[in-house]
Amino acid sequence: MTINILSNKSGPTISKYIYGHFAEHLGRCIYEGLYVGKESDIPNVNGMRTDVVEALKNINIPVLRWPGGCFADEYHWKDGIGPKENRKKMVNTHWGGVTETNEFGTHEFFELVRQLDCEAYVNGNVGSGTVQEMQEWVEYITMAGVSPMADWRRENGQEEPWDMKFFGVGNENWGCGGNMRPEYYADLYRRYQTYVRQYGDQKIYKVAGGANVDDYHWTETLMKNAHWMMDGLSLHYYVHPHGWEEKGSALQFDEDEWFLTCQKAAHMDELISKHGTIMDKYDPEKRIGMIIDEWGTWFNVEPGTNPGFLYQQNTIRDAMVAAITLNIFHKHADRVHMANIAQTVNVLQAVILTEGEKMVKTPTYHVFDLYKNHQDAELIDSYGNEKDTITYTVSKKDGQLTVSICNFAVAGEEKLDFNFSSPVEVVEGQYIVGEEMNAHNDFDHPETVSIQDFNGFVTAENNVQVTVPAMSVVTLTIKEG
Ligand code: AHR
Repeated sequence: MTINILSNKSGPTISKYIYGHFAEHLGRCIYEGLYVGKESDIPNVNGMRTDVVEALKNINIPVLRWPGGCFADEYHWKDGIGPKENRKKMVNTHWGGVTETNEFGTHEFFELVRQLDCEAYVNGNVGSGTVQEMQEWVEYITMAGVSPMADWRRENGQEEPWDMKFFGVGNENWGCGGNMRPEYYADLYRRYQTYVRQYGDQKIYKVAGGANVDDYHWTETLMKNAHWMMDGLSLHYYVHPHGWEEKGSALQFDEDEWFLTCQKAAHMDELISKHGTIMDKYDPEKRIGMIIDEWGTWFNVEPGTNPGFLYQQNTIRDAMVAAITLNIFHKHADRVHMANIAQTVNVLQAVILTEGEKMVKTPTYHVFDLYKNHQDAELIDSYGNEKDTITYTVSKKDGQLTVSICNFAVAGEEKLDFNFSSPVEVVEGQYIVGEEMNAHNDFDHPETVSIQDFNGFVTAENNVQVTVPAMSVVTLTIKEG
């Protein structure tokens, strides 16, 4: 396979927000996964797990979406502020019917965001909340001056307002967020977003609740009726090889299921193109971001775990899905302005799994690590022959090229010839590889899949020949000229 790199023909910037994450009050994502409380024996800072925070900082987490998901449209933020002992306990009806203590609320979320040094993406409640409740939340978070909500925030110990860059006006309002028709939600969106006021200097980026998978009518209706009132429109797409009812196991699968999973991940390309064509009709300048704020694999839960907690293992197959998907996002960087993998810890395609004080980084984590140089880099154009099981990205930042390649064949290495316009030098090569289709990390074997040095390349003047093993993701850092 030969690929010609047009290093002088740069494309759009790959927004770092494409590398965003999503943390919902679901199973052990927030509680146990990110937050253990100040009194825990697990090392923490103000209740946030130190190991998890450090691991997320290492992959330059740029933004965190919270509190849901379906949970967002049942969440009443006032229940989660003030002295913890007075906080109202509620039933988490969507996720296992467990008691939600509201111990983790607005103050705790912004403390987590502070420790992660990332942006906040808060998702408001349209399904069961009032306009006033949403307006007051925005006021509580962002108002610097004197106001009832700002005064209340100060009483609760936070003098300064927080920075809130992104705000979602409802979630999945076609389903768990109220079972609405798009016409009805479009009107509600217009109404609710009016009261998402800008109190500080920072303009709040408003995200309208978008379509499920290929519901193009939803996108058409939202764009037609409200495009000038939104900064972003969301899209949700999960990969479950055998459909919604019987999703398949995260660990036990055959070759056919491997390819079905990868094919379904690749379907993201068509979804972005088709939803993007509708958006182009109303927004040819591509001002409005397509915000894919839920994506990833969704398998059957691990046997013996709470079905409502969505806990699944994560293998080299998930790493393939992550690499395939991120490469697609890069390709559409002019329209995809943010994406948030579901979900950060212990839920669905998590980058981190925890058990008590133990923590492991999943193969998906390592893809985010191998790909982090693409954040805010320029997409570089290329052309050449294609191969079904190869997907790649070339980008440029700080004078260096980053080439990431995923070979999702289950056997057989692939030779790729990259031609550049001037002599090149490979500065660094790294990769992850699976020895078997379900290679994964667990608490007894945390390093089965881990980043290793890669030296499967030969450089000759303007050419680098890379031999990419099956079931691997490779990243090369290259200096030109
Ligand atoms: O990520 C799990 C759930 O999937 C979210 O709560 C919901 O928005 C989606 O259906």
